[in-house]
Amino acid sequence: MTDTVTATWSAPTPLRAILLGRPGSGKGTQGARLSEMLGIPHLSTGDLLRQEIESGNALGRDLERYVARGRLVPDRLVLEVIQEHLDAIEVRELGFLLDGFPRSVTQLIALERMIAPQRLSCALELLLPEREAGHRLLTRFVCTTCGSSPHMRQGPALVAQNTCMRCGGELRRRLDDDVTSIRQRFTEFERLTKPLVEWLDRRGVLLTVDAARTPDEVTTALLTSIERVAPGVMLPQLS
Ligand code: AP5
Ligand code: MG
Repeated sequence: MTDTVTATWSAPTPLRAILLGRPGSGKGTQGARLSEMLGIPHLSTGDLLRQEIESGNALGRDLERYVARGRLVPDRLVLEVIQEHLDAIEVRELGFLLDGFPRSVTQLIALERMIAPQRLSCALELLLPEREAGHRLLTRFVCTTCGSSPHMRQGPALVAQNTCMRCGGELRRRLDDDVTSIRQRFTEFERLTKPLVEWLDRRGVLLTVDAARTPDEVTTALLTSIERVAPGVMLPQLS
């Protein structure tokens, strides 16, 4: 946990961090913010898988069967999708913020093999009770143009008009944000990701942040945590 972390991983520059947390905890929101502030690529396996699904190709049709039902995609397919992005020159040079990957101890081992000899800097956990996470997911509307999702919190009137508060684009519910799929995603989190979180904690590389706060407060807490384990990384001035 945050106060007891001993960070046995190296703290290299650039930052190579993983963002963990149950569905709805804010991984995507914080990943996008940190990416912009730190100038580090944000790689979300959920987004990458949804792009494949949107493309309508054979792989996408295969993936949709899992994603729409809130089931984890088999490791073989996820590793295939993430590998090429990890190999990109930009990612090798600038580092990464991984969101939604790894989700199990098996995936973490695969990731460490994929990036070797480079090493991970830290694992950042967003802690949010299931009830609040469920509420966030059931009220999430995603813009089909810019991908942003804070609409219900900041612009319920625009949600009623189905218009993005940032760019005016059309809003849509995510294909897995129905009650049944959300329950399944929470179950998968308990089954495979919780053991990963506990394993990282035992290794002393987990930094836990209370995510039941405003997005700005969560961002500040994450930056403070990163600064502790990766002092060489350039961070913006904290207020
Ligand atoms: P993925 O897309 O990763 O979904 P998830 O883990 O279920 O998490 P979400 O994206 O729903 O939530 P989030 O934590 O990003 O929260 P967000 O910032 O959006 O994966 C989807 C599916 O792909 C999986 O179910 C699986 O099928 C497959 N998959 C992906 N990776 C895989 C892997 N490695 N292996 C196998 N299968 C894989 O926030 C949620 C809402 O809350 C938003 O509306 C947001 O605006 C709002 N919000 C955010 N922060 C706050 C705040 N501080 N206060 C109030 N509201 C907030
Ligand atoms: Mg997400």
